[in-house]
Parts: sequence; structure tokens; C-alpha cells
Amino acid sequence: MAIDNPENPDRKIPYVPPLVLGLETSCDETAAAVVDGEGQILSNVVMSQLDEHRPYGGVVPEIAARSHIDHLDDIITESLQNAGIAFSDLDAVAATSGPGLIGGVMVGLMTGKAIAAACDIPFMGINHLEGHALSVRLTGEVAFPYLLLLVSGGHCQLLVVKGVGQYERLGTTIDDAAGEAFDKTAKLLGLGYPGGPAVEKAAKKGTAGRFDLPRPLKGRPDCNFSFSGLKTAVRREVEKLGEDLTQQDVYDLAADFQLALTEAIIDRVGRALDIFLEQHQLEKHILVVAGGVAANKYLREGLEAACGKRGFSIVAPPPALCTDNGAMIAWAGVERLQLGQVDDLSVGARARWPLDPDAPAAIGAGVKA
Ligand code: KG4
Ligand code: ZN
Repeated sequence: MAIDNPENPDRKIPYVPPLVLGLETSCDETAAAVVDGEGQILSNVVMSQLDEHRPYGGVVPEIAARSHIDHLDDIITESLQNAGIAFSDLDAVAATSGPGLIGGVMVGLMTGKAIAAACDIPFMGINHLEGHALSVRLTGEVAFPYLLLLVSGGHCQLLVVKGVGQYERLGTTIDDAAGEAFDKTAKLLGLGYPGGPAVEKAAKKGTAGRFDLPRPLKGRPDCNFSFSGLKTAVRREVEKLGEDLTQQDVYDLAADFQLALTEAIIDRVGRALDIFLEQHQLEKHILVVAGGVAANKYLREGLEAACGKRGFSIVAPPPALCTDNGAMIAWAGVERLQLGQVDDLSVGARARWPLDPDAPAAIGAGVKA
């Protein structure tokens, strides 16, 4: 099957139905993408709001929601144009309906429902975390079950992905997400926003070992994470140094923070790898890593070593699909549509929406789903 490409009339685009439009507006990216039934990405448009939030050192929910309203229509138009299709070519619409910043979620959800109603095609309200969990199957042949480490600015979770809609959460953060810890530490050290890349760069110029920072929850039998104590420990060191804080102190603190956070994550992931091995005897054991923090090279090396020891391979979606995007939402829509899992238009926006509703609440857990 092929469709006309209005930007290039000589070239017809072959595609495999269903053709799904995916919308993502749950945090600070306004995104729309078109994906087909075989995981061909016909378009993937992402507009980051970084510049709008940078002056505040973090995402401001009200600014995010307003910006989604201002830009989503244009992003959708661009996404259809890049794919060379019209609304009438779509087979279904998928939009993030949670978890996330509720104002932004509502913008994408209502827009998605309106398109589905106008085109008279199925609609799916997608769990943002499911988008991340399945994105690796969009670009490669990764079979269920696999272990997922999701480390971003909003999430830090370990999940066994058993199938579409079938998740077992092994652990989650009881306070901050890993990216949030990077961002808050960067702010304390005056390194700018977003903090992850800035801290990683500063850490390269520093030497770890000067500061005694905690490895939160290390050695615990569960797989939960905690990062707020680590951030507080960095703050104390900054306060102790006071006006004497030098550039080299900042570099060394960044190095010690990155080391402590990596060691804490590796310990928690190691526990999850062991649990997964106890649960499953497979030909291939796979750890999928997704989310912006997965870009951190120091963490990646640590994860590779922990996986190598236990015979796991690491698979990560390409960076553009690791961070928030519409293609992962469209693909989750494709997978669900193929299983007949569609929603009616009464589906609502959810600020919290755990993938595994049976998971015990992590003590102290905040809004991290
Ligand atoms: O997945 P993402 O783009 O957005 C969501 O949070 O949904 O992740 C952004 C987070 C930010 O907190 C950012 O500081 C962090 O990922 N990050 C990094 C690196 N690059 C981005 N953290 C550590 N090292 C990095 N190189
Ligand atoms: Zn995300």
C-alpha cells in the first residue's frame, strides 16, 4: 500500500496499516508523530520548551500547559506534512492521558479526542510510561518479557515488561526522580539547566573521593530508589564551603555526586536483575534503558558492567526516542490497536497512573506514578 506525498509528488510512501497519530504533552515537550503498523516512523516532531523553563531552573506546570496550547496544532500540522498524509489517511489517534502535569495532559488528550471524533476513527488514551516501556519494540525486535529501567526527569522505575498492558513494577523512587536529582544538584552548584549534561561535563573536570556522599537505599532487598538525601548532602557540602567554594570544588562535588548516584542506581538495578533471573529462564535476558538520564555515559558504563556480570544485554532506543516524543505514543497506540484495546471518548486525564496497579505503594512516594 502507498500514499501520496504532497511534498514530493514523485515519491509515494509505502506503509503498513494501521497509520496512527501519536500526541505527547505530559511534561515540557510538545510532540506529534505518525507511525505505521510495522514501526515505520513517517514523522516525529518534537518541540522542547526548555528555553521557556530555563529561567526558573525547572518545569513550571502552568507555563508548560499554555505553551502546549499555543503550539500543538502547528506541531500536528507539521507532523502530517512531514509524513505526507492528510487527517483522512489516519486509522487511529493515540494521546498521552497520564501520568504527568495535568494541564498539559489535558491539552493533548482533548486535541486527540477531537481529531478522532472528527475523522470517526478509534482513539486510545496512552499511559506515558507504557510509551517508554514499548518504544524499544518500535526500533528493534525485542520480545517480551524484558526488564526496563526508566530514568528521566519525571520517573525512576524498574519494571518487568511482560506484554502490552502487563507490567510488574519492581521498584520506584520514594522521593525525587534521577533527572530531578541531577537538575537540583546542578542548581545548587550553579551549573545551569538542564542539569544532567552540565553535571556530567563538570564531573569530567573533577576528581571523585573528596566528599563523603550517601548511596541511598544501597543493599536493601527491594528495588526502590531515593535521591533527596543525596541532594541534601550536596547542599550541606556547598554550605560548609560557603564563600570559599572554588570552581574546582564544584567540579569535585559534581564528580562525587555522579559517582554516588551511579553506585546507588547500579545497586538497585543489580537487585532487579537478580530478581528477573529468579523469575525467568530465557535464552536472552535484556535490560532496556530509557529516559533522558540514560544519556549519561558514566551511568551507562556502570550498567553495562552490572549487566555483563549477569549475562544481560542492554538495549536502549536511539536518543531521540529515549526522551519524550510522539512516536513512542503512536507506537503504543499501534500495539494496543492491534490487540483491540481502544478507548471511548470519555477517558480522562490522570496526573497519577501506575503501570502496575498492584504494586505496593513505595513509602514516602510522591507524584512519580
Ligand atoms: O526523558 P527526559 O528528556 O524528559 C523527562 O523527564 O520526561 O529527561 C530529562 C532529564 C533531565 O532531568 C536531564 O537533566 C536528564 O534527563 N539528563 C541527564 C543527561 N542528559 C539529560 N542526566 C544525566 N546525564 C546526562 N547526560
Ligand atoms: Zn517521559
